[in-house]
Amino acid sequence: TDRNFIDLVDAGPDGIAAMLADALDRKAARAGWPRGRVDADAPLAGYTLAMIFEKNSTRTRVSFDMAMRQLGGTTIVMDAGTMQLGRGESVADTARVLSRYVDAIMIRTDDHEKVQEMAEHATVPVINGLTDFSHPCQIMADMLTVLDRTGKLAGTVWTWLGDGNNVLHSIVEAGSLMKFDVRAACPEGYDPSPVVVANAWTRGSRFAVSRDAAEAAAGADVIVTDTWISMGQDHVEEKLAAMMPYQVTEALMARAAPDAVFLHCLPAHRGEEVVDAVIDGPQSAIWDEAENRLHAQKSVLLWCFGRL
Ligand code: CP
Ligand code: NVA
Repeated sequence: TDRNFIDLVDAGPDGIAAMLADALDRKAARAGWPRGRVDADAPLAGYTLAMIFEKNSTRTRVSFDMAMRQLGGTTIVMDAGTMQLGRGESVADTARVLSRYVDAIMIRTDDHEKVQEMAEHATVPVINGLTDFSHPCQIMADMLTVLDRTGKLAGTVWTWLGDGNNVLHSIVEAGSLMKFDVRAACPEGYDPSPVVVANAWTRGSRFAVSRDAAEAAAGADVIVTDTWISMGQDHVEEKLAAMMPYQVTEALMARAAPDAVFLHCLPAHRGEEVVDAVIDGPQSAIWDEAENRLHAQKSVLLWCFGRL
């Protein structure tokens, strides 16, 4: 059966666990392999993924493209601006047409409703490659990184610092599904969506936002942040000033557990949300995290095709 991957809740704890296990297996199976090899089982041979970008991307674009190639399939990558979508063809009609050609669609867009609309009208799986509301593919890679590094996910404590944005939304959702604790410290006016928080609470999450970065970081297993200005947002000095107390510094890392891991989805704005000494420091897992997008994306694709 085909499945959409619009938010982590679509997969639920069992689906997420299956994807993480598969990603770890495939990652291990490729370790030390020569370049240029397709995974031995080539499970998506003959399949094509279409990717639509309404916003810039490096990691999502290349990791999904390589994920399909390593699974034996292929991709078509399109910038929305050069599609008829970019001059007014509806999301619904685009979904209907692409469904006649390709086996799955990934879309990165500003408006979360566009992904939902795409999924409603497509007859092939639709994957959320980031919206203004969430970034579930990223958090699959983040969970994989923590699991790979520490051997555990449930019971870990993740502290988010800075803007209550799309990436935090997916982390809060992930924590409530996979039973890890999430805390955030955000300046007033930049809290995450109350809907996301309420949904997490109904699943038993103890998620809370504080205004105190040092307090939120205390004893954490994971310290995670993201740009203060997301794609599509204006570069407002006022916001940068409000965020400054939430910058991830060495002093802040020292508040976390001694073996705490630093995560950042990238791209980073060094000297804003994080200083060089942390992002380039021994606790930083950012390059593994970026690599894990590839392994995680493969599992997302397989899950969407009902193979997991
Ligand atoms: N983290 C992430 O989604 O990166 P890109 O914007 O480069 O895809
Ligand atoms: N919050 C960022 C994430 C980029 C991968 C953005 O939406 O621009």
